[in-house]
Amino acid sequence: MREQLANIRAQALAAFEGAQTPAALDELRVKYLGKKGELTVVLKQMGRLSPEERPAMGQLANEVRAALESAIEEGGRRLAAAALEARLKAEAVDVTIPGRAVKLGHQHPMYVALDEIKEIFIGMGFTVLDGPEVELAELNFDRLNAEEGHPSRDWSDTFYFDEDSRVMLRSQTSPMQVRAMDSMPLPIRIIAPGRVYRKDEVDATHSPMFHQVEGMVIDKGVTMADLKGTLNTVVQKLYGEGTRTRFRPHHFPFTEPSCEMDVQCHKCGGVGCPTCKGEGWIELLGAGMIHPRVLEMAGIDPDVWSGWAFGIGLERTAMRRFKIADLRLIFENDVRFLEQF
Ligand code: DAH
Repeated sequence: MREQLANIRAQALAAFEGAQTPAALDELRVKYLGKKGELTVVLKQMGRLSPEERPAMGQLANEVRAALESAIEEGGRRLAAAALEARLKAEAVDVTIPGRAVKLGHQHPMYVALDEIKEIFIGMGFTVLDGPEVELAELNFDRLNAEEGHPSRDWSDTFYFDEDSRVMLRSQTSPMQVRAMDSMPLPIRIIAPGRVYRKDEVDATHSPMFHQVEGMVIDKGVTMADLKGTLNTVVQKLYGEGTRTRFRPHHFPFTEPSCEMDVQCHKCGGVGCPTCKGEGWIELLGAGMIHPRVLEMAGIDPDVWSGWAFGIGLERTAMRRFKIADLRLIFENDVRFLEQF
């Protein structure tokens, strides 16, 4: 039996050392130390030994078992280290290889124009608001003094969600005026850029979805002079010092008086050319003094507070800023177009 144990020890140790994978090593463990393993079988024969032989043989058997177990452990460590080594080698990064350039995109021209407008107004102490595109007709129309029967409420002009015309895609950013009045403490100075929707056919200057930037100031003693002064300053910053503006009377239900502001054509300097359709002036925005009824409906006393507001079309601003001839280009996302800005 002594010899048997010595053989097992020698064979097993050699075999363990040769194992190339954890699975092979485990197979060998079963082969020698498992329930029916070679060492186990020998140990089971201990009972047949004489009482004198048993202690010495028992000790030897235990030594062999301990040797095999520690050899297996050692083999496990060896295989794990080898596996790690192989993985490190396989995943090695050659830091000397030149990097692949990342193709970075850039801002859409319309957002460049929007950021310029935001910059200017933030610099004058305005807060930028964001609001829902799915809006209550009450805020888009009623609270803006355009009650039932107003032509802009027509089904052919407006995207409604329900038969009762209560919920709609906002047709203007002006309901943000009402939202600001309802939620902010006075005085208020805000701009609110965002998408608006109208039932328009797509052509070079129209789209059923476009963007506006709404602006509003409410304070004590605010007059039309503040409106003109502020918007003139904005135009100087957007289009350069010395750019002339012109205010024409107009009508909006939520302002009184209302006006439209034109800027002198940047192309011809006011003489008249195809860009300004011979007018010398290009319409830029609608504006006016907030109608006292609109203030009243928001619970603001028009005898104490007054305000002015404006709405500007963002696509048109970008088109003029970047000399883009067709509105559709702004939404088509053709990179050949976008790359030019
Ligand atoms: N909401 C108007 C439109 O869609 C534009 C506008 C005009 C906004 C006058 C205003 C304003 O705030 O005071 O045509």
